[in-house]
Amino acid sequence: MHGIPVLFSLIVAASASKALRYTVPSSFKAAANNCTLPAEFVVANFTTYTDKKEGSPGTVSFQFSDPDTKIQTTCQHNSTSTGSGPSKNRYACDNVKIAFVYQTTGIAGLTVAERACSSGTGTQFEASGLVVPDLDCTDTSTGTLCHAKEKSIPGDFESFQPVPPGVPTRRDQKNWRG
Ligand SMILES: *[C@@H]1O[C@H](CO)[C@@H](O)[C@H](O)[C@H]1NC(C)=O
Ligand SMILES: *[C@@H]1O[C@H](CO)[C@@H](O)[C@H](O)[C@H]1NC(C)=O
Ligand SMILES: *[C@@H]1O[C@H](CO)[C@@H](O)[C@H](O)[C@H]1NC(C)=O
Repeated sequence: MHGIPVLFSLIVAASASKALRYTVPSSFKAAANNCTLPAEFVVANFTTYTDKKEGSPGTVSFQFSDPDTKIQTTCQHNSTSTGSGPSKNRYACDNVKIAFVYQTTGIAGLTVAERACSSGTGTQFEASGLVVPDLDCTDTSTGTLCHAKEKSIPGDFESFQPVPPGVPTRRDQKNWRG
């Protein structure tokens, strides 16, 4: 019976892109016909560092990848980064199509957002999803360093909405980087 689990996982891995966990608004369907919508993602090497003087993590870093849209990028914020979005806690990754918010209160965990199919002039949409890294932390003399116990954390995009106000669009990418 040993062969069965192996065979099963091969079939799963080979199956076509998985069903989306969110609904695409009808106004976006035409644009979405031509592109790959974000369905799932992987967060790797998630690390935070909280200085003793700070209440919330001053440095957050991880690698993001989306196996369907093939986007792979490094995401990080540190003392020199400026947040954007309504709560000023949203940061762009090196690839500006990806942004993230990491919170230890409220919607605790790492929310990642991926811009869906550049729709040209119309409203820009993004898919977002949440993962909650299970952290292993070490206190140092200056702060607390934490690593996710899992090297690689899979997540699903579960909602689809216009990019929030206050987040610059592609035209002013420099600002959107923070
Ligand atoms: C889809 O892509 C084709 C070829 O790139 C283009 O001609 C067409 O206008 C696109 N359709 C939409 C709805 O964006
Ligand atoms: C995670 O970190 C390890 C060790 O630094 C590195 O080899 C690996 O490539 C990183 N993973 C990703 C997805 O970048
Ligand atoms: C701080 O984060 C930015 C991205 O927001 C990155 O470009 C820069 O290299 C980081 N600085 C350090 C010292 O890691």
